[in-house]
Amino acid sequence: DRSIKIAPSILSADFANFGAEIRAIEDQGADWVHVDVMDGHFVPNLTFGPMAVKAFRPHVKTVMDVHLMIAPVDPSIDAYAEAGADVLTAHVEAGPHIHRTLQAIRTAGMKAGVALNPGTPAEAVAHLMDLTDLVCVMTVNPGFGGQKFIDMTAKVRTLRDMIGDRPIHIEIDGGVDVTTAPLVVAAGADVLVAGSAVFKGGSVDRAQVYGANIAAI
Ligand code: DX5
Ligand code: ZN
Repeated sequence: DRSIKIAPSILSADFANFGAEIRAIEDQGADWVHVDVMDGHFVPNLTFGPMAVKAFRPHVKTVMDVHLMIAPVDPSIDAYAEAGADVLTAHVEAGPHIHRTLQAIRTAGMKAGVALNPGTPAEAVAHLMDLTDLVCVMTVNPGFGGQKFIDMTAKVRTLRDMIGDRPIHIEIDGGVDVTTAPLVVAAGADVLVAGSAVFKGGSVDRAQVYGANIAAI
């Protein structure tokens, strides 16, 4: 399914009201709910762990898309499966054995995602095509919401060619708004994470998030 999906990041939600915030964005049309797990080690910020993610689960009616910004990843995979993650994404930079990590995520019953920091080339996932369901292209250096978009459209085009006919999503994470969304969609992305663009306005307005000019895509 290559339709464009909006995945609001609850990193920009009210941390004292996650249940209500998740229900509100789904009521307003979110396709997936993006959950940013940060460990204060792989990235310089700390959010929440598997117990909190498990508490989010009953509020998420769509797809719970969990983005791990942690290292190491493998010891936590089963905990996120038990917490109810549908998609579990690990960074290629988080350890030396991403191939094994993606296998373990699928074995635990989840869709496997692999994320690329801005400084990491598309080729880092060239040998993972049969093990992944989603490639997340970071368009900020991970750690914080509200940062300026870094243009990775050339990387997205390279990945789109690499993926070919395989059913692999290309997700964009960081600085997605009305101006930047059309650029990444034109390059081949189909899942748009948006934190500040969604929560600043308090709603998931598709035209607002990815631009009225591509609303027909
Ligand atoms: C950044 C996170 C993103 C972030 C996006 O480390 O992975 O998901 O919340 O936020 P915005 O849309 O505000 O850049
Ligand atoms: Zn994210």
